[in-house]
Amino acid sequence: MSDTSKEPELMQKLVSLCKRRGFVFQSSEIYGGLKSAYDYGPMGVELKRNLMNEWWAFMVTSREDVVGLESSIIMHPNVWRASGHVGNFNDPLVDCFVCQERFRADKAPALKEEALAPIELADKGRAKLALEKVKTLLESSDTGGAPEGELKRDGKTIHGVKAGERGYACPNCGSPFLSEERNFNGMFRTSLGPTDPMGGVIEALKAGVQSGMNDDQLRSVADEVLKKSEVYLRPETAQGMFVQFQNVQQSQAIKVPFGIAQMGKSFRNEITIEHFIFRSCEFEQMEMEFFCEPGKGPETLQYWKEQRQIWWESLGLNKKRLRFREHDADELAHYSDGCFDVEYEFPWGWDELEGIASRTNFDLNAHMKGSGKKLEYFDSEAINPETGKKGWRYVPHVVEPAAGATRGVLAVLCDAFDEELDDNGKITRTVLRLHPRLAPYKVGILPLVKKDENLVNRAREVAALFFEAGIAAKYDEQHTIGKRYARHDEIGTPYCLTIDSDSLENGTVTIRYRDDKRQEVIQVSEAVEIVRQALKTGKL
Ligand code: GAP
Repeated sequence: MSDTSKEPELMQKLVSLCKRRGFVFQSSEIYGGLKSAYDYGPMGVELKRNLMNEWWAFMVTSREDVVGLESSIIMHPNVWRASGHVGNFNDPLVDCFVCQERFRADKAPALKEEALAPIELADKGRAKLALEKVKTLLESSDTGGAPEGELKRDGKTIHGVKAGERGYACPNCGSPFLSEERNFNGMFRTSLGPTDPMGGVIEALKAGVQSGMNDDQLRSVADEVLKKSEVYLRPETAQGMFVQFQNVQQSQAIKVPFGIAQMGKSFRNEITIEHFIFRSCEFEQMEMEFFCEPGKGPETLQYWKEQRQIWWESLGLNKKRLRFREHDADELAHYSDGCFDVEYEFPWGWDELEGIASRTNFDLNAHMKGSGKKLEYFDSEAINPETGKKGWRYVPHVVEPAAGATRGVLAVLCDAFDEELDDNGKITRTVLRLHPRLAPYKVGILPLVKKDENLVNRAREVAALFFEAGIAAKYDEQHTIGKRYARHDEIGTPYCLTIDSDSLENGTVTIRYRDDKRQEVIQVSEAVEIVRQALKTGKL
């Protein structure tokens, strides 16, 4: 599991609950775990699917003007050359000379020139070694920090250094002694086809060394060989929608304005992996490209901003923890004429859940140039603004709401997590107050005692009623009734139905409401209706 010791307490509790109750596990845990990859357990897979199904229903199946797509994860490498990902999808990477941390310069904490730069190591032992290193680093002029006064160590902190001209410090230890920034492309590259490209690389390198090539030249010749079979894992789902624009539009005879939506895995070789599933290398996105007439981008952006707000709020997220941040002009990409981030207040602070961007016709133009194919739309009814005549051929503009699905799961979990305390501040109950449509199970069916065959049979009959109604129910007979309630509280099951001897005599069950632990004796048919209503309204 990635190191959670620096996370806020709430995150540590959530990570622990996720493992304990089967929401999220570290990938390949028995082999020591794979950094930045996660497996969704039985509860997590239900929660994630429920969230993604909600998105699909809202964005696609409840509308006339959006259709779906599932494009391949591995696409032609020219897709990524044309989109700019091969040339521009780069992070500025820096190494810290003191603690060896490798990090992204654009994510590092800002430090004003001349500011004090205390360097804090994990413990005294490391700080002692680091002090010696800092002394040496101060002697060489081009590593970053400058002396501030007397260099001294106080426990695990080193004082006596001030920031140099870099404007930022190591996010791990605070040191200003840093390597040059190097560009690092975040796409995962692999090769397609039955031949191993390494043979060709070795031959090319041997020839290069013999002819006296320098490192940069050797890298270029190796790249040339790899290029013949190179492919990339997609770093976003969006490009699939752009390159299939024409096929989708023509096969569906759909008119602009319309959207193409896609959900699925994306891969980025992230340098900074943080906050559990918030930023990982393999993650899922929910993206939609909405194609509109040139000039309609800004109003379409406003429309989708409002729609996305309605959707996030419909999941029951606390409105006070959701906000929309408009990008300043200097934050916008050169082709974009507007962008909003949907931000959620996570336990570590406000952070991005979704970006909603007006991208003009940049992407379709880029793919027209890259492929030589026309990606245009002809509107026979519209007036061409240049000629003033009916019939307008144009490259559509695009508004893109691009949300993180796995990041959405984390937001939903953070929002739902709650601990009830007694008068002495002791935790009496942990409960996930999930929206009923997101909860892995909508109802737990609990026979009061598992040894009573009649109760067990009746409980199974009740569970079958829910299955027939298409409602995810969990028949659950393990442990005491109290423990079962606690388990269902922690996985967010909105209702539990207890089957006792009265159930056998008069067809009643005891319904327990997750949020306030209220209990009522009702007929089974009423229980089905209560759950159905909660799924419709979101209210328990
Ligand atoms: N097509 C545009 C695009 O991909 P982005 O802002 O890079 O835009 C969209 O990604 C969303 O995908 C983000 O708002 C975030 O929710 C999610 N996302 C991006 N990188 C992620 C990562 N490494 N781990 C988890 N989610 C990520």
